[in-house]
Amino acid sequence: MTLRIIPSGATLGACVEGLDLAQPLSDEVLGQLLQALGQYGVLSYPRQQLTPAQLRDFSQRFGMLEVNVSGAYQEPGLPEVMVLSNIVENGKPIGLSDAGQDWHTDMSYSRMIAFTNVLHGIRIPHRDGQPLGNTAFCNMHAAYEGLPPQMRQELEGMTVLHDFDKFWEMMRRERGSTRPPLTAAQRAAKPPVSHPIFLLHPITGRRVLYCNPGYAVRINEMSERESQQTLDFLFAHQTRPEYRYAHRWQTGDVLMWDNMGTIHNAIPDYRPDEPRLIKRCQVMATRFFHDDGTPRNAARPETETA
Ligand SMILES: [Fe+2]
Repeated sequence: MTLRIIPSGATLGACVEGLDLAQPLSDEVLGQLLQALGQYGVLSYPRQQLTPAQLRDFSQRFGMLEVNVSGAYQEPGLPEVMVLSNIVENGKPIGLSDAGQDWHTDMSYSRMIAFTNVLHGIRIPHRDGQPLGNTAFCNMHAAYEGLPPQMRQELEGMTVLHDFDKFWEMMRRERGSTRPPLTAAQRAAKPPVSHPIFLLHPITGRRVLYCNPGYAVRINEMSERESQQTLDFLFAHQTRPEYRYAHRWQTGDVLMWDNMGTIHNAIPDYRPDEPRLIKRCQVMATRFFHDDGTPRNAARPETETA
């Protein structure tokens, strides 16, 4: 099989043909996929047949996998594989049913941020011949480049505080989610963290806007009021229609996206009687950053030579 990477022609997205993800990945192909992921932000691999262990093995070629601390909805024996589903069996949900249903970036609230998510679509609902449950994305390279130049200058070097609790509370308040409030212990386990508002993307070498409506709560270097006004502007700016792209799922798709170069939104337009089943691995950005968040390829401070 010959590997072909076919751009969608939209602001994001490419389809990767000619690759069986159940087979081990060569270093050469891994390198091509990394470049494509940086360039196109979202990659889809149609018609894949993978066991959960094969999904894990493919995903972990891209970096260390996150294990969700809750322990809920994990594939039996494979804590790195999480089940996303609205299916109820014997009165019990088999997966997390309300993941990611608004604009956000996974794990921006974490010291070690997320690199890529890898999702395998096992059951995809359709209605009137159209797929439901699209995953929508916005292009954060384009959003950075589309900022007014003066704003890019003003914000350069600033940092944003990200809080896990923001998205959680939004789901409870605005979406009627039955999630209980986070306990004090859960909050203490996920304290808010700061990241640069503009990241130098480790693959493309270009700047991206690293801010998202789901978790960003404060621009640290601004007054509370100025921070809120600026964040409101950025949230509206980064979700403008020209930066958007939606993946229309087909059964068997593996979908992978870059969490630094995009933000995403899981569209919940299907009903409880329209079953959806997705298995997911989340790859942390360990290949690009040290544990303290500094880039691995950052230039070392110059040492004086005698
Ligand atoms: Fe997400």
